[in-house]
Amino acid sequence: MKAAITAIGGYVPEYVLTNTELETMVETNDEWITSRTGIKERRILKPEEGMGASYLALKAVEAMKKEYGVRVDDVDMVILASVTPDMPVAITSAYIAQEIGAKHAYAYDLQAACSSFLYAVSTAAAFIESKKYKKVLVVGSDVMSSIVDYEDRTTCILFGDGCGVALMEPNEDDLGVQDEILRTDAVGRNFLKMDAGGSFLPPSHETIDAKQHYIRQEGQSVFRFAVSNMADTSAEILEKNGLTGDDVAYLVPHQANLRIIDATARRMGLSEDKVLINIQRYGNTTSATIPLCLWDYRHQFKKGDNLVFAAFGGGFTWGAMWVKWAI
Ligand SMILES: CC(C)(COP(=O)(O)OP(=O)(O)OC[C@H]1O[C@@H](n2cnc3c(N)ncnc32)[C@H](O)[C@@H]1OP(=O)(O)O)[C@@H](O)C(=O)NCCC(=O)NCCS
Repeated sequence: MKAAITAIGGYVPEYVLTNTELETMVETNDEWITSRTGIKERRILKPEEGMGASYLALKAVEAMKKEYGVRVDDVDMVILASVTPDMPVAITSAYIAQEIGAKHAYAYDLQAACSSFLYAVSTAAAFIESKKYKKVLVVGSDVMSSIVDYEDRTTCILFGDGCGVALMEPNEDDLGVQDEILRTDAVGRNFLKMDAGGSFLPPSHETIDAKQHYIRQEGQSVFRFAVSNMADTSAEILEKNGLTGDDVAYLVPHQANLRIIDATARRMGLSEDKVLINIQRYGNTTSATIPLCLWDYRHQFKKGDNLVFAAFGGGFTWGAMWVKWAI
């Protein structure tokens, strides 16, 4: 028995932050951002619209219910993948479970930086394959604007807010999650992080003054690690399973930088038409990139299609997953 995605949903906030508007905020320009990253605009959750990762999640669940006519009040597990949950300690996934009416669901939040969604799907699949839980809601939701310094041109151009959700259930026809390679390496601890706010450096007036509550990265180092690791595991998962680029219908990559995605596709021997991209519209939405991509391209998939999900993120965390589409 396999674990398959049986419905998908997505939501991005209304406010569109364009490269042109960023030009008025920091020393940058549309040409630089587009050529280095592929990003043209991103969505920002403004307080006038709503607050928190849970707000986006509930919107995405509504979209999924409308599109697929599924019930969610009977899910027995909710996993929230996020680096920006509503708040620390009181888990956001429990609130999501309550608000969708899943009275008997067991819930927890999972954090693996930009690989969070991949890790969450892996976890959900393991619970389903072990027959412990039957219907799992996996949520990838991030409000990156809550941890981005809009005076730092090296990070504020990259990130956006958004959410994607996936319902996962048992599948007897060999569709769903087939295999995965997930990795971590703490070499990344110094290259991509938020210094303050955790137990290592609790928040204080000093940390706020030093703007240590924002996400920072060494862009070039992260770029190099991302290119080699995401491409390596994506090629490795094909080799391990005796597949070639011809067998793959689509690569569903984490959307951090168009050049990282291109390098991964080249290593896998994939033509351009097999690579799903929406980075130009949303930027890097962290835990939401892969499910938002599935949501945007859902009408293109056929039952049985071989998809490869690939991600890379802080920590470092990364991995690739082979999924047979089941909808
Ligand atoms: C961030 C990133 C786009 C920067 O691109 P880059 O080609 O590495 O650019 P560099 O950092 O070498 O900077 C080159 C120059 O552009 C400048 N620059 C940086 N940000 C800029 C911006 N937004 N606009 C204009 N110029 C900018 C730099 O200051 C530097 O100037 P200098 O040469 O005078 O010092 C790229 O490194 C990247 O995408 N890294 C991976 C990030 C990532 O994916 N993180 C999340 C992982 S999940």
